Amino acid sequence: MPTKVHIHDKQFVPFIPAEKLHKKNQELGREISEHYRAIHSEAPITDQNPLLLISVLKGSFVFLADLIRHIDLPVEVEFIGLSSYHGATETTGVVQETIPLRQTIHGRHILVTEDIVDSGLSLRYLKDSLIKESPLSLHTVSLLRKPEALKVDVTVDFVGFDIENKFVVGYGLDYQELGRGLDGIYVLDEA
Ligand code: IMP
Ligand code: MG
Repeated sequence: MPTKVHIHDKQFVPFIPAEKLHKKNQELGREISEHYRAIHSEAPITDQNPLLLISVLKGSFVFLADLIRHIDLPVEVEFIGLSSYHGATETTGVVQETIPLRQTIHGRHILVTEDIVDSGLSLRYLKDSLIKESPLSLHTVSLLRKPEALKVDVTVDFVGFDIENKFVVGYGLDYQELGRGLDGIYVLDEA
């Protein structure tokens, strides 16, 4: 892991190394698999009724790719594009749907897959719109969460790491569209 990364005008330093992310993905995959095996016995996850992972683009594609390999259940994947940032390191509070969801939600077990829950506005928006289509169940997993930044009340069922209210990049997360390919997570160097 390089000790410093420059992106545009900012400098980032190591925060969560790749090995730690890998271990967390194994744990989350196990937890998620056990959860769905245990509580949905009346409408189990089967090949005919697979778990539907809805990945929120762009940030969650790297996490999704790793997590899915640790979920021991039949899973289907769909994507939705949401945008709440417009270049800055602060949220604007307005959620835009950049790529629409093309899948029936009704009667399905849904697991929304997020990279990070910051203000919670994106996840709140998505949960509210999915619930209207009456899924069989609706849960959420996020690799990262910033508890101090939450502006709305939104439950995340499976959380990888709760982190401080600082801007991070890497492992799918960007700063002005760059930095998504870094194999670990880096934090803005405020020094
Ligand atoms: P929220 O709606 O404020 O919870 O933010 C959701 C989206 O903002 C996430 O899916 C990310 O794409 C982006 N975001 C929030 N915090 C960060 C960060 O620290 N680094 C990079 N992107 C972030
Ligand atoms: Mg995002």
